[in-house]
Amino acid sequence: ASFNLFLLPGDGIGPEIMVEVKSILSWFQARGVATFETEAGLVGGSAYDAHGKAISEEDMKLAQAADAVLFGAVGGPKWDSVPYDVRPEAGLLRLRKDLGLFANLRPAICYPALADASSLKREVVEGLDILIVRELTGGVYFGEPKEIVTLENGEKRAVDTQLYTTHEIERIARVAFDLARTRGKKVASAEKRNVMKSGVLWNQVVTKIGKEEYSDVALEHVLADNCAMQLVRWPKQYDVIVCDNLFGDILSDVAAMLTGSLGMLPSASLGAPDAATGKRKSLYEPVHGSAPDIAGKGIANPIAMIGSFAMALRYSLGLGEAADMLDKAIANVLASGVRTKDIAAAGQNAVGTKDMGAAIVKE
Ligand code: NAI
Ligand code: MG
Repeated sequence: ASFNLFLLPGDGIGPEIMVEVKSILSWFQARGVATFETEAGLVGGSAYDAHGKAISEEDMKLAQAADAVLFGAVGGPKWDSVPYDVRPEAGLLRLRKDLGLFANLRPAICYPALADASSLKREVVEGLDILIVRELTGGVYFGEPKEIVTLENGEKRAVDTQLYTTHEIERIARVAFDLARTRGKKVASAEKRNVMKSGVLWNQVVTKIGKEEYSDVALEHVLADNCAMQLVRWPKQYDVIVCDNLFGDILSDVAAMLTGSLGMLPSASLGAPDAATGKRKSLYEPVHGSAPDIAGKGIANPIAMIGSFAMALRYSLGLGEAADMLDKAIANVLASGVRTKDIAAAGQNAVGTKDMGAAIVKE
């Protein structure tokens, strides 16, 4: 099979970690796993420097046409004072919005070799493998009205609106249930039905989809605040957690810190399946930012970016075996003791970005 990948390395360490993905692409291609046609574009500060926008219309078209977009990171102090609508993040927000990327997948995996880097005790996190599915285009971050108004008595009032429709909840629930089928066959749905109407509807819709379409998957409902507590108490009780935009933002950050380093965390953002082809628009990116403090030094950890590519192989390209192979290579390299600086123990030798990439290719 032949796939068309659109690479947006971005700013800071983005280009440095993307190079390592390219050598993995070449490795798979050389062994006949698939043919990858790649094209690269500009996003964020580097796009602003080149043409004054956070992403060009031409690059948006390439992103729309791609089988998957691989995104590095954007931003940095250099662009702190550029106008709001062309700031680096605007490029990422435009991609999410125009590609309709409503489902954000954030796995939290704790490799045994790194369990001591977690914020929690080894036995609580060792072998952890959970997936948070966050609704990304709705809810209180986007609901209208959204405003700060001045009242007659001079006081101010801030309004954010939590809004969800049946359709929005159904489609994110299906993503979570479909993913659970490929894993531990368990979904935990987190909301606050005790105090929020959106939580009541969320609970009803997820229950209905679970009953009618996924009777083979176990469904549990958990209040979002309890879920945060449970994630810190005994995270291994979960397989897939599905939640709205706001709770997903918070719960995925909690889960992230169970695993050790920011430089290890991949993510995927998926759109709705196309009516004709069934294909989803998709973007894969590390959770971390452009790390301006270490950019250009060749010491960034490429694993979050490489893991994001593994997710692309699995979720967009139908190459699950290649994804498994890549994930296994990462785990083995970590088990063998190879470390970039961010995951090295005090006094332990650290390798640079290129050596980590090369070790994974070799493995
Ligand atoms: P950051 O994630 O870039 O860095 C936080 C800390 O983690 C830094 O000390 C950095 O050196 C370290 N770090 C991050 N990734 C690493 C890796 N792969 N290997 C080793 N160490 C790593 O977050 P920060 O500093 O808050 O933001 C820096 C810039 O990135 C800002 O302009 C921010 O707006 C942007 N940003 C962009 C995101 C994106 O493109 N999706 C997400 C988060 C921040
Ligand atoms: Mg966040």
